[in-house]
Amino acid sequence: MPTIRTANRFDAAAIARVYVETWRDAYAGILPDQGLLSMSERRQTAMWRRAVAVDMVKVAIDRQAGVIGFGSCGPTREGDLPYGGEIFTLYVMPDFQNCGIGKRLLASLFGALLKHGIESAVIWVLAENPARFFYQAMGGRWAAVREEPMWGEAVPQRAYAWSNLRQAIAPSFG
Ligand SMILES: CC(C)(COP(=O)(O)OP(=O)(O)OC[C@H]1O[C@@H](n2cnc3c(N)ncnc32)[C@H](O)[C@@H]1OP(=O)(O)O)[C@@H](O)C(=O)NCCC(=O)NCCS
Repeated sequence: MPTIRTANRFDAAAIARVYVETWRDAYAGILPDQGLLSMSERRQTAMWRRAVAVDMVKVAIDRQAGVIGFGSCGPTREGDLPYGGEIFTLYVMPDFQNCGIGKRLLASLFGALLKHGIESAVIWVLAENPARFFYQAMGGRWAAVREEPMWGEAVPQRAYAWSNLRQAIAPSFG
């Protein structure tokens, strides 16, 4: 069973590896190939070194494989929606998906938001990403749509929201 813990700056390179690998796997055919190929673990490592100091970041650690998943959250960046928190990222390595790790990471992120007095949250998902069904299974309600420019293309996104994180953690996470 992987351990879930708060990330620190020494996890940045491992998080970057998971981020790049999972993006290329999950978004092939959804986002432009050129953009996915241009992603760099070195740049992502620098980005995650800064993120662990600012955001709440959790990692899932497998004893053999090391970091196999991670997620991050904080106060919402989307002022127009009535949710205090935002899940910024949630990624599990392809070989470790569908083993309950995403659900545990999401519960841990909800717990971190609650500890900071944030009672509701939203996540933005690419509209074509099958992960939207995961968020629905986790009790998220479809709350909004938008288009974001990514690598020169306007990409449709959907927001899923939880208006009561305490309630979200209790029944659906068991
Ligand atoms: C989406 C993701 C984080 C889910 O994590 P995971 O570890 O694979 O999911 P879990 O095994 O914890 O699944 C929890 C539940 O959701 C369900 N579920 C997971 N993915 C699902 C999907 N795509 N469609 C429908 N249900 C799904 C599981 O069946 C499970 O149901 P159960 O609790 O009744 O057994 C992971 O698959 C992932 O990283 N995907 C690629 C990257 C991505 O799209 N990330 C989201 C960015 S917004």
